[in-house]
Amino acid sequence: MNEFYQKDIFSIKDYTKEQLETIFTYTDKIMQLSLSERREICKGKILGYLFYEPSTRTRLSFESAMASIGGNSLGISDITSSSTQKGESLADTVRIMSIYSDVLVLRHPLDGSSRFAAEISDKPVINAGSGTEEHPTQAIQDLFTIKKEKKKIDGLKIGIVGDLKYGRTVYSLLHGLGNYDVDVNLISPESLRIRSDSTYEIKRKLDFTETTDIEEHLDELDVLYVTRIQKERFPDEEEYLKVKGSYVVGLDMLKRMKDDAIILHPLPRIDEISADVDKTKNAKYFEQAEYGKYTRSALLGMILNENSF
Ligand code: NCD
Repeated sequence: MNEFYQKDIFSIKDYTKEQLETIFTYTDKIMQLSLSERREICKGKILGYLFYEPSTRTRLSFESAMASIGGNSLGISDITSSSTQKGESLADTVRIMSIYSDVLVLRHPLDGSSRFAAEISDKPVINAGSGTEEHPTQAIQDLFTIKKEKKKIDGLKIGIVGDLKYGRTVYSLLHGLGNYDVDVNLISPESLRIRSDSTYEIKRKLDFTETTDIEEHLDELDVLYVTRIQKERFPDEEEYLKVKGSYVVGLDMLKRMKDDAIILHPLPRIDEISADVDKTKNAKYFEQAEYGKYTRSALLGMILNENSF
């Protein structure tokens, strides 16, 4: 039996390097299958999604992933059109969704929401973003992208720039990178440095330096992971306006980077990467979005099939 069968996905911290590599191997296998072979993997299975926060890629990539492996998806992406508006609790909505589906995908503004949902659901729960805490399937996609595009993860120098305080993809990525031998350079405005309650845990697994100056290590980086300033999570609009547009990656900056450096972004992008970077060979954020479909197909395949290997 595969070890992911019927298991929840809460946090990237729950995975060892070997387990991450197993997911990558299975993702590679899925990418090599023919379309008709892929469609057998989750034939007849149903994915149920509940998105209490906006999403484009995560929800669509889960839906697209499920369709490509033969399953179906149903769910609620606009919570204002659901019974939540009538006062239904998250617990009841989850209970109902777990009756109608084989696996649940949840995005919610509260940290710990997917663990809570898993206590109620008798079907596996996948965390598709919980507050400012984690976004584990994004990190799996990010690590897979690095591996595919750079042919390795160990030994790389990785810059992460933007909103390191509120960006949940950053925390999941850092914990994921903690399994590898990498040098990390964290670049943010002073007020958006990674949260001090997390630094202790991350420091135990990872070597990182912090700076406000994106130019400081630019010429050494193999990967630059750019993030959006998370406007919606600022308690005060004034504070957001102070840091808005702090870093913009443009062609001028790219010129000072290694020729084979790659630029990643979990998307959505607002103004932190200028559009003229998109057509360069270094821009890999759209490929990253595509890899997300395959990593999610792999995860769904492993969770829903006892013998997926
Ligand atoms: C991210 C998220 O929701 O945390 N989006 C995504 O899933 N790709 C990043 C963001 O919203 O900035």
